Amino acid sequence: MTDPAPPLLRVRDLVVRYPARTRRAEPVPAVDGVSFDLYAGETLALVGESGCGKSSTAAAVLGLRRPDGGSVCFEGRELTGMDERDLRPLRPALQPVFQDPYGSLSPRLRVRDAVAEPLRVQGRWDRATGPDRVAELLDRVGLDPEHGDRLPHELSGGQAQRVGIARALASQPRLMVLDEPVSALDSSVRAGVLNLLTDLQGELGVGYLFICHDLALVRHLAHRVAVMHGGRIVETGPARRVCAEPEHPHTRELVAAMPSIAPATAATPAPSAP
Ligand SMILES: Nc1ncnc2c1ncn2[C@@H]1O[C@H](COP(=O)(O)OP(=O)(O)O)[C@@H](O)[C@H]1O
Ligand SMILES: [Mg+2]
Repeated sequence: MTDPAPPLLRVRDLVVRYPARTRRAEPVPAVDGVSFDLYAGETLALVGESGCGKSSTAAAVLGLRRPDGGSVCFEGRELTGMDERDLRPLRPALQPVFQDPYGSLSPRLRVRDAVAEPLRVQGRWDRATGPDRVAELLDRVGLDPEHGDRLPHELSGGQAQRVGIARALASQPRLMVLDEPVSALDSSVRAGVLNLLTDLQGELGVGYLFICHDLALVRHLAHRVAVMHGGRIVETGPARRVCAEPEHPHTRELVAAMPSIAPATAATPAPSAP
């Protein structure tokens, strides 16, 4: 039998600690021994309430914060301990999308230039084909050519987040770390952005580490869910199983907090309208 393909991302015993606020207190780890695998083309959702360590995990995976312990392996290469020079050629393959869609765009850069920037920085800009490539990326994320002329403040939140996704795609990533990518968006535009992400994954086979505090939101999007609580992963499983039959008490709390997916509501007839 041949070995199964190795994971795109393998995280083992990850620890992230911040300095204690008072001198007497021991620093409490924000991430306290997190381990998971993520395979190519897969969406793993990291779900948990605010402060449980999701963004700290993301920062360590993206190499934005050096972990205090454990290992982050991307395509079989250990990232922790790599210096910036060795990390640089890997960065395009590992792209973040953050919660605040405007925060990741430069206020004075027009959309067209924002999307071209990664190509320029990576030495892949070609004067003949570059503009077409940018137009193609804008189209791919559902924006019109005329959006290319706009400045970030002339975009809606959903449009700005699409620009953020186009910028990430410009780098041809194999893994995208999406940290609450729709949490700041109007609920009316969330589904459109989530559908776009699903389509892109089907087309490009990119892996998603999808961070979210809302279990209901990831149920249909994620292949697997890892539930985080207090810096640890307390439960992992296929998204549907975790939502339908949560095993850990904390997962049950998350499920119970979402009446729309609580198993009990499925069996209870809807109350008749007044
Ligand atoms: N830069 C920081 N300095 C000190 N503590 C931090 C910092 N960033 C996060 N924390 C703390 O680490 C814990 C985990 O935070 P975070 O990873 O942002 O969680 P989440 O993304 O799940 O809301 C929280 O207790 C938070 O207060
Ligand atoms: Mg966070």
